[in-house]
Amino acid sequence: MAAHALNRHLVLVGFMGAGKTTIGAEVARRLGRAFVDTDEVLDVQVLERDEPAYRAAEAQAVRSALASPPAVIAVGGGAVETPEVRELLGEELVVLLDVDVETAWTRTRGSDRPLARDETEFNRRYELRQPLYAAVADASARDADDAVLAAAGVHVEVGALPLLRDLVPGHGPAALVTEPVVAGIHGADAQLALPFAETHELPSGEAAKQIPEVERLWRALRVGRNSTIVALGGGSLTDAAGFTAATFLRGCAWVPVPTTLVGQVDAAIGGKTAIDIPEGKNLVGAFHWPARTVIDPALLETLPAQERLNGMAEVVKTGLLAGEPLWELPDAELVRRCAAFKSAVCLRDPRDEGPRRVLNLGHTFAHALEAAAGYELPHGRAVALGLLAALRLSGRPTGPVEEVLHPEPARVDRERAWKALQRDKKGPLRVILVGDEGGFETELSERDVRAALEALIAR
Ligand SMILES: NC(=O)c1ccc[n+]([C@@H]2O[C@H](COP(=O)([O-])OP(=O)(O)OC[C@H]3O[C@@H](n4cnc5c(N)ncnc54)[C@H](O)[C@@H]3O)[C@@H](O)[C@H]2O)c1
Repeated sequence: MAAHALNRHLVLVGFMGAGKTTIGAEVARRLGRAFVDTDEVLDVQVLERDEPAYRAAEAQAVRSALASPPAVIAVGGGAVETPEVRELLGEELVVLLDVDVETAWTRTRGSDRPLARDETEFNRRYELRQPLYAAVADASARDADDAVLAAAGVHVEVGALPLLRDLVPGHGPAALVTEPVVAGIHGADAQLALPFAETHELPSGEAAKQIPEVERLWRALRVGRNSTIVALGGGSLTDAAGFTAATFLRGCAWVPVPTTLVGQVDAAIGGKTAIDIPEGKNLVGAFHWPARTVIDPALLETLPAQERLNGMAEVVKTGLLAGEPLWELPDAELVRRCAAFKSAVCLRDPRDEGPRRVLNLGHTFAHALEAAAGYELPHGRAVALGLLAALRLSGRPTGPVEEVLHPEPARVDRERAWKALQRDKKGPLRVILVGDEGGFETELSERDVRAALEALIAR
């Protein structure tokens, strides 16, 4: 089964004091789902008088919570002691909220919980339940970001590439799709980690996203429907290989393993796959959520500076939307936090029908500049300029963009850029701005948008 909670419940388990209620409520808010805390309907005093009766009522509470549409469900710390509950959870994506026994005791001692009165009994129950949690959990988490990532099926870990054998779900054969540059650097490690039934290459960079390349791959693939396509490369490679997976045999499972910063914080997350046609980039594609996404931030060490800058533009965008200077974090944490932000937005809106549009912050301007430059302008530079425009229109400081991305005015034709931004539509334009609560879509006059665009173009 795929390792995500796209169409099923996200269930949080863990010992008392792990933070299931607080973290569960935050995760539910971020995913736009209902939050159910099964403890809430139970009378904790019954636990003291008659534990079997309490456990039976608890199992009933879990059963009725599971009958609702996909939600975030926190189940009581001891629920996993009941075999029926363990069985019920087998169909859902279960995340263990990790807590050590000392922290749990400090947080809960003296509370009204009957099991939090005697430290010896507390420790005994903790030990007893660890293997039960391990048996039901698909992933473990320390905070809300980890839980969101698990819900999206995104695994972020420095050194994840050598663990590929354990991280690719399913038992069928796996086919590796990669490209020459990445194959030369990381291909051998991937092959060592997982003996692939077959290996294919697409061209490096945007050239991968062409119909003839995808057709060549369709025709070369030998694996069947129970197999998994593992896509190792940057956003171009994962877009093209993901589209191939979405269409081959009417859809087979795929696992992107992004090797660029753009891929790790953006392209490999959220299930959008696409190729280009002469009429435009990404005009043909499919929504095809990966069975799992494996992100190893150590792979970024070999990334050229310009590619890193392209990724930093998406990092700054994410930080502005999240309201936190995520760009200041060390690589592994920066990737984890940005990947979690995108995962939450995409789980909320898997088919890009509304909330996901905030991810376009700055991109309306960026696309217009890129089109006017005949796609000679690096994407990161265009996004940096687009973010400047969006911040100015939002009335917010542009400092972070200038300090981290050093945007330089683009040398493009003004009229061509304006036409590209309007996309043949006259009248007010819809753009994404940033406010105190994050990104939002609004309508602005042609005059304001044009002035913001012109300020990005060199005189
Ligand atoms: N599907 C989505 O939601 C989504 C989101 C954002 C971007 N994208 C797409 O992603 C593409 C851009 O992806 P990208 O910025 O990752 O660039 P890319 O995939 O084109 O890679 C850029 C270059 O970096 C090289 N490279 C990759 N990994 C490397 C590594 N670890 N070390 C050294 N070199 C490495 C590649 O060979 C290539 O030459 C665009 O086509 C864009 O449309 C898709």
